Amino acid sequence: MMSRLKKVAGKDVEIMLTGSVARGTNVRGNYDIDIFLLFKNNISEEEMEKRGIEIAKRVIKKHRNETYVMKYAEHPYLMLNMNDRGITVDLVPSFKIKDASERVSAVDRTQLHNQFINSNFNERLRDDVRLLKTFLTSNGIYGAEARIEGFSGYLCELLIFHFGSFSNFLSAMASLKLPAVLDIKNNSRIQGMQADFVKKFSKDFIVIDPVDENRNVAANVSSESLSLLMLKARKFLAEPSVSAFYGSKFSDVDSKAQVRKLGKELGLDVYVLAFKVPDIAEDIIWQQIKKMRKRIEDILKQSNFAPELSFQNISDKFGVISFFINPMSCNSKKIAGPQIIMADSVDAFMKKHRKPFVFIEGDKIYSMQKQAYKTPDELLKEITGKKIIEVPSYIKKEKIYFYKNRIPEQHAKILNQAIKTKLLWQ
Ligand code: UTP
Ligand code: MN
Repeated sequence: MMSRLKKVAGKDVEIMLTGSVARGTNVRGNYDIDIFLLFKNNISEEEMEKRGIEIAKRVIKKHRNETYVMKYAEHPYLMLNMNDRGITVDLVPSFKIKDASERVSAVDRTQLHNQFINSNFNERLRDDVRLLKTFLTSNGIYGAEARIEGFSGYLCELLIFHFGSFSNFLSAMASLKLPAVLDIKNNSRIQGMQADFVKKFSKDFIVIDPVDENRNVAANVSSESLSLLMLKARKFLAEPSVSAFYGSKFSDVDSKAQVRKLGKELGLDVYVLAFKVPDIAEDIIWQQIKKMRKRIEDILKQSNFAPELSFQNISDKFGVISFFINPMSCNSKKIAGPQIIMADSVDAFMKKHRKPFVFIEGDKIYSMQKQAYKTPDELLKEITGKKIIEVPSYIKKEKIYFYKNRIPEQHAKILNQAIKTKLLWQ
């Protein structure tokens, strides 16, 4: 692929292998190949992108069953699938830089990461990165994408470099105190400056990029992912075993019955909204569905139907949102009004809420209000019809399937995966 690109690209374009393959930190069966097309900084961003994508498209060999998908991060890049070999290659146009201060976009840093890792790594460290990636993958927290909110490949490399080995890293995580700031390049610098970094990045787990001190490489790590890592590290160190390393596998056979059983065991009703999603950037769809789920959750809470558990997942072009809710109905709800001292507001409140029951409690005025939706069913069914909430434009409201407790296998499988990802042990 490198030589194909070199043939097609002009002399002014440098072709550079980056990512885990260039650094010897890739895990067999679970990596992609990352190749950068580095342009000199004397052309515009648009020109650079256009030329880069043109070159990338020219190396695709259709007769060898190679296809491509355009991807859009901060910049467009091309994902080439060598379908016969099961290999994907990301072809990324970018500017050639020597220092992070010259960077135009975030992808420009990648070439600098290459230099840092390759000049600081030996074979043992590379192997330990592979161990860490595998450990994280088996626990569902490898990758910085929105669905995972875990540890990226580069973050794994920096953590192993910082702690010196996989086993040191596990010990550190087992007793980690937060906030934690790891300044990879200059570890003594952070003494006494911890608070400044916490404020700057508004996070309590910070790993400062050795090639760019304005970047927290751990920015996408959620507190759930970090907490899970801490717990799994403790568990593994207490009882080091192959099974603790790889985690438990679960079966999704007859997910319909599995989900039904869990609902019954907890005494909660299982509600599911399922809908088709398009085949575009998963990160974007994931965030949009998360927003939609949070909005529905808010409406449920306001109506006294706060879900005890809430899940989302995407698989096979289907999105699933699910809530586990205590069986209940709610006829009337107490609405708090203003304090009595606020004469005008109290007047307005009384005009609006004359019926059926207005009263004082403490220094405030209250009213009882009839519930618009008396059960979670009523409310959730309405979401598929009327305009209670905004949904992403590609989701057709009339085509949101609604289920309670009896979930068809196809959707139950997607939900079950999300449930099992959250479950700590079984
Ligand atoms: P990859 O996501 O392919 O990671 O990004 P990786 O390190 O090669 O790991 P695997 O083995 O494929 O899973 C390639 C490179 O792009 C930069 C990093 O330098 C990374 O190594 N990158 C990627 C970032 O800096 N930030 C990102 O969010 C993604
Ligand atoms: Mn990669």
